[in-house]
Amino acid sequence: MTRVPAVLPAQTVRWHLFPDDGALLADALARVTAAARAAIAQHGAFDIVLAGGNTPRKLYRALRNADADWTCWHVWFGDERCAPPDDPERNSKMARDEWLDHVAIPVGNVHAIPAESGAREAAALYARELRSVDTFDLLLLGLGEDGHTASLFPGQDWGMHADSPDAIAVFKAPKPPPERVSLSAQRLSNARNVLYLVEGAGKRDAVAAWQRGDAIPAASIAPEAGVDVLLDAAAAA
Ligand code: 6PG
Repeated sequence: MTRVPAVLPAQTVRWHLFPDDGALLADALARVTAAARAAIAQHGAFDIVLAGGNTPRKLYRALRNADADWTCWHVWFGDERCAPPDDPERNSKMARDEWLDHVAIPVGNVHAIPAESGAREAAALYARELRSVDTFDLLLLGLGEDGHTASLFPGQDWGMHADSPDAIAVFKAPKPPPERVSLSAQRLSNARNVLYLVEGAGKRDAVAAWQRGDAIPAASIAPEAGVDVLLDAAAAA
């Protein structure tokens, strides 16, 4: 049953405009490494959720050279495409190629979504694995041109309700591939820091819709501390 939200939760958004992608990348890198240091100092671990797509690629590559206590990092994924693990379309493959295979994060600390098992089975398995983590320390998200985030797409169930599962199967994603797994909006909202990375003129309409208060999936992620949106001049409405 698709429950399209009538009313979105109140989302506090802090917009950060950067003149170019280099300045945005420097700020994103500083935020990630600062959040990691704070989390490790506070509770001995850093639970980060990665965004898919192309925008975060530069950030992941820059993290390759970060000075970090990698043994304390736990890497989760906000969504995944249903394809074999080594398929270049996989978000986990991109993250491994750009970053994870180049740093000493313990293998068991990289929690890929087993999307090769098919959306329904993988969502159930990942929801079970997510029981081992409560509030994420940092969540990275992208923004699609239609306002989607993770694999929560307009017109589909975003899993915003308290009783929504932590991970949901997506079968008709308008962005290929159609079959995906996504963390639900309620699970993505359980995070201390949420950072959207938004670049390029193609996102301008989605940013304008967001700022207008339209009910887009990106507006359904409502952590207590609000969200920070890093956007470059091209994406600024
Ligand atoms: C995915 C992503 C998706 C992405 C946006 C933006 O699996 O496709 O999770 O939500 O973040 O579509 O993608 P780009 O960064 O490539 O523009």
